[in-house]
Amino acid sequence: MKYLPVTVESIEQAAVILRGGGIVAFPTETVYGLGADAFNAQAIAKIFEVKGRPHFDPLIIHIAATEALENVANLSLLSEEARKKLFLLAENLMPGPLSIILPKNEKIPAIASAGLPTAAIRFPSHPAAIKLISLCGGALAAPSANPFGSLSPTRAEHVRDKLGDKIDMILDGGQTQIGLESTVLDITGQRVKILRPGGTTKEAIEKLIGNVDDGFLSAKTDAPLSPGQLKSHYAPLKPLSALSRQDILRQSYEKDSAFLFFDSGTRDEWISSQKPPKTAVFRVLSESGQALTAAGRLFEILHELENCSILRIFAQFAPAEGLGEAINDRLRRGSVLS
Ligand code: TXA
Ligand code: MG
Repeated sequence: MKYLPVTVESIEQAAVILRGGGIVAFPTETVYGLGADAFNAQAIAKIFEVKGRPHFDPLIIHIAATEALENVANLSLLSEEARKKLFLLAENLMPGPLSIILPKNEKIPAIASAGLPTAAIRFPSHPAAIKLISLCGGALAAPSANPFGSLSPTRAEHVRDKLGDKIDMILDGGQTQIGLESTVLDITGQRVKILRPGGTTKEAIEKLIGNVDDGFLSAKTDAPLSPGQLKSHYAPLKPLSALSRQDILRQSYEKDSAFLFFDSGTRDEWISSQKPPKTAVFRVLSESGQALTAAGRLFEILHELENCSILRIFAQFAPAEGLGEAINDRLRRGSVLS
């Protein structure tokens, strides 16, 4: 396995591997992706195998220009209204942390979309990702570069530790900027639905195209709209309990547990009421309670807590707005209590 920092040369090497049917982990602005040529079914099959990902869970197709939407989607199958919405979203939010469900075209193999007639399409903003995609025929199928069901990688080291011996190459671009995955938005139906809250907020989407539904809330049922809505999906290796601000303040300290607070105000209040021992492990997502900072640190801190000696995690929900929705979604689905 090649493990190289992002440079012009290493991106070119990665492109050679991808064009030859190999699989390469690369940085995006959200989390690291594990890429394969989006038009090569055999290469895509390797991704499912390496991740232990069930074949009913479709991948995101990454492109490097809005014009490339035509190469992977069949836009003529969209209604006039949906097409207008797509153009508004593409013009204003691409490149960026937004994956849009569109009718796929016949060049995208069925294995990539898990047999669905649709595909999730995303134009990432990370320059290394854009360069790499451009050098590989303009489309890479890429899920997050982690074993199925575990925390998404926000550093190349996370990929190396969990998948390093199974993939051809890792491009190290340092810590990812956003730190959690893209928003998945379905514009193919009567109502536009957020299937997964993520790096693009509902507010930003609604400003452009009007009201959208929280499709991800139906993940509480047994019939998720999107396979990635499986309830337990972002599970850290240690049991996690997600609690409201009020409940975490009432939660007394337990030996061998870690507390993850949203902001320093809640931490200080908890310390003064619970008087935990000096050895207590606690972390704060954002000192000043900024959702952007908190989102960027969530997986980072959960990876760290996975690797230390604590046995369980108590985590505080974020205020339920903006990026807080994405943070809470990951906490709910990683939680043993949901
Ligand atoms: O930020 C991201 O989105 C990262 C980076 C690497 O781009 N990728 C990522 O991929 O998170 P993955 O495979 O871990 O998550 C893709 C999500 C899954 O929840 C999947 O079920 C959903 O997108 N998805 C993909 N295609 C779909 C489709 N046709 N219909 C509904 N959901 C779909
Ligand atoms: Mg994933």
